[in-house]
Amino acid sequence: MKVDLRVGVAGLGTVGASLVRLLRQKSDSFAARCGRKVVVTGVAARDRSRDRGIDLSQLTWHDTATALAVSPDIDVFVELIGGDSGAAEDSVRAALAAGKHVVTANKALLARHGVALARLAEENGVSLSFEAAAAGGIPVVKTMREALAGNDISRIYGILNGTCNYILTRMEQDGLDFSDCLADAQRLGYAEADPTFDIEGFDTAHKLAILTSLAFGCEIDVDAIYLEGITSITRADIEAASELGYRIKLLGVAQRTESGIEQRVHPTMVPRASAIARIDGVLNAVAIDGDAVGEVVLVGPGAGGNATASAVLGDISDIARGIHVPTLGRPVEELSPYRAARMRLHEGGYYIRLAVYDRPGAFAEIARIMAVEGISLESIVQRDRTRKSGEAGAHTDAPQPVILITYETTEAAVKRALATISEQNVVAGTPQMIRIEKLG
Ligand code: HSE
Repeated sequence: MKVDLRVGVAGLGTVGASLVRLLRQKSDSFAARCGRKVVVTGVAARDRSRDRGIDLSQLTWHDTATALAVSPDIDVFVELIGGDSGAAEDSVRAALAAGKHVVTANKALLARHGVALARLAEENGVSLSFEAAAAGGIPVVKTMREALAGNDISRIYGILNGTCNYILTRMEQDGLDFSDCLADAQRLGYAEADPTFDIEGFDTAHKLAILTSLAFGCEIDVDAIYLEGITSITRADIEAASELGYRIKLLGVAQRTESGIEQRVHPTMVPRASAIARIDGVLNAVAIDGDAVGEVVLVGPGAGGNATASAVLGDISDIARGIHVPTLGRPVEELSPYRAARMRLHEGGYYIRLAVYDRPGAFAEIARIMAVEGISLESIVQRDRTRKSGEAGAHTDAPQPVILITYETTEAAVKRALATISEQNVVAGTPQMIRIEKLG
C-alpha cells in the first residue's frame, strides 16, 4: 500500500465531527477502496473544550485554520468553516498556495470566489473538490463533471434547500403556517445559522451558481441570479396549487435560452405528477437535461452531518487514488464568460392570485388588461366566495381571492399586466405571482 494520506480538518461542527468519526469507523474499508490509509492528523476549531462525542486528544490542534492549512503534516486540507470570506477564504487560499489539495463544503465561498480558487488550484497543481457544496450528500458534482461529460446540458433545476422544502411540505401536508414550520426546521437543525439564508433563497442561489458553471462551462456569477424566497407563500397559494394539480417548490433553475443563460431561484408551481413534485421534507433533488442521456434526476439528503461528510469522503477518496479532475469540469481558461439572459424575456405559464373587489365588471377589466398584454388565460377560479352564485343583492366590498392561470407568456407581459391591474380600483393589496415550470 502507498503511504498514508494525511488530512487536516478545519471546522468541527456537525459535518466536521461526522467526518472524523466516519474516517475512524471506516478506516479499513476506506483504505481498501482508496489503496491507502486516510488519517486525520490535524484539526482547527474555535472551541477546543466542546464535547463532540469523539476523542480528539491524539490530534494536533492548530490555533488557526490557516496554520493548519500550511502545516507540513497534512496533504489535504478540508475546509468546513463556512462563509465567503475571513478564515474560510484565507485558509483555502493558503492551502492551495502551499500545494495542498483542498476539499470544501463551502457553497458561499465557491459561489463568490470559485473561479479564482480554481485558478489557484491549477497554478499549484492540486485539486479543489467541493461535492458537499452543491446539494449535500447528492453526488451531483461528480455526475456533471465526470459521468455526464459527453452531454450538452440544456437545463438543470432542483430543490437545493432542505429547510424550504421542509417548510413547504409541512404547510401543505399539515395545513400549518409558514412561521410554525420554520421554527420546527430550526429546532431539527436543518436551517442555516441565519435562516434568512434559507428562506430568502440565498443558499439555493449559492448552490445554483456552482451548478450553472458545471452545466454550461461558464464562469460563476451568483449576483446574476434572479432571486425570490418563499416568505410570500401563503396557505391559500398552497391549497390553490393543490386544487389545480400542482405543488409549490423552491426551485433553482439554470437554463440555456436564445438570449443567454437564465439563472433563477423562486417558488415554482410544478405539476403534481412530476418527479420533482414528489420530493418531500428535507430531501433535495437535482434534475439535469442532457442531450445524449435525456433527463437524469438525483434525489437525496442535502444536509446533515453524515450525508455531507459522505460527499467529503468521496472527494478525499479521489485524492487518495490520484484522480484529478479540473475544478469546474474544464481548465479555467476554457470557461466562457457568463452571459445572462434577461429575466423579462423569461417564458412560461404563471399562477396569479388577486384579491378582487366583488363589483360588476371587475373580472371583465382584469381580462381586458390581460388581453391587451397578449396573455391568454387557461383558467380563472374564484375561491371562498361568501355570496352564493346567483344570489341577489348588493355586492360586498370585501375582496375575494381569484386565481388566474395563464398559458405561456413572458415575464415582461405579466409584470406589466399586474402593474396595470394594481392601478385600477378592482384589486386590493399586491398580486401574488408564481411561475409555472414546464416539465416533461
Ligand atoms: N440549510 C441548508 C438546507 C443546509 O436547509 O438545505 C445545507 O446547505
